[in-house]
Amino acid sequence: MKSPKKLPFSDELAERKGDHIELAKRARTLSSEIDLRFNYEPLFFSHPSSSDSWKTSFLGFEFDYPVWISSMTGGTDHAKNINENLARLCGEFKLGMGLGSCRSLLTDRSRLNEFAVKKFMKDSPLFANIGIAQVEELVINHSEFLIHEMVKMIEADGLIIHINPLQEWFQPEGDRYKLPPIETLKRFLEKSTYPVVVKEVGQGMGPRSLRALLELPIAAIELAAFGGTNFTLLENMRGVKDETREAFIHVGHSAYEMVEILNALPTRNKEIIISGGIKSVLDGFELKSKLKTNSVIGMASGFLAPALKDYETLRNYFLGQREALLTAKSLLELREET
Ligand SMILES: Cc1cc2nc3c(=O)[nH]c(=O)nc-3n(C[C@H](O)[C@H](O)[C@H](O)COP(=O)(O)O)c2cc1C
Repeated sequence: MKSPKKLPFSDELAERKGDHIELAKRARTLSSEIDLRFNYEPLFFSHPSSSDSWKTSFLGFEFDYPVWISSMTGGTDHAKNINENLARLCGEFKLGMGLGSCRSLLTDRSRLNEFAVKKFMKDSPLFANIGIAQVEELVINHSEFLIHEMVKMIEADGLIIHINPLQEWFQPEGDRYKLPPIETLKRFLEKSTYPVVVKEVGQGMGPRSLRALLELPIAAIELAAFGGTNFTLLENMRGVKDETREAFIHVGHSAYEMVEILNALPTRNKEIIISGGIKSVLDGFELKSKLKTNSVIGMASGFLAPALKDYETLRNYFLGQREALLTAKSLLELREET
């Protein structure tokens, strides 16, 4: 097996050949294991170099790679570090990012430094984030200006509104909607002057909701689909177990299903952040290739563990993702029948 110290070339070759003989018996696959999503086209491929990119325009910004860091944190003691690391990554590699809920800033600026990371992002987009329950409360009280002030305070380029009725229902201290979110959104959008993105938080949305969103004057939809982090499950773990509610944990729509629904609808130039359970670069690449509308690939939890460590760890994690994404782009093509 590979020895740790550098060997002369002929010894290294001999060692590698030895490894091949030893491992060949175990390194076997079955034809039934082929990934049938892609055609593999090695004749048109060269290995990506560090200067290669996948230029993408999204939300009016130029990205070097079609990658979005989905909304995660703020309002906790780790948040400043996590958000700064994520924002630096976006600045270095020209990616976009949504902050976690900025609710605390509506009434108190003491945690502003956890969200004020635009300075690390250079020209990349940073979006503030708020739940529909807070939007509803402020719309009812004619106090939407507090949200506009918050977006300005963070120097954000726009706002993400998350719609999470199941999470709120499961959360012991959760909010209750008085208006259907579509009503709240319509009323809020009448007066907002910056781009708005609407998302779920890990359950996705069905065709009727997607169709309604596509008709609103919003800039993009983030899928935040079922199949990854599930906040209904998470809140169920935090709160009192309730078997009647538990059945709702498994309702929702996968990113795959949502892409199919969107492809069947008139998308009216809306852009899409494909997210929720994107566990591998190939999953993201497949869905991006499938979706007919302009899109980027979003991930939340995948970025969290490396961002919690330090910038170098996060950067190395992204370099791996970047290489895999560029490799997929030039080596694979979606099979027509999938
Ligand atoms: C630690 C954590 C905190 C999150 N907080 C928020 C939030 O404040 N607002 C929001 O819109 N989504 C939030 N999300 C949901 C994500 O943006 C995303 O929609 C969801 O995690 C699915 O993506 P994933 O499967 O890649 O994790 C959070 C996710 C994680 C993992």
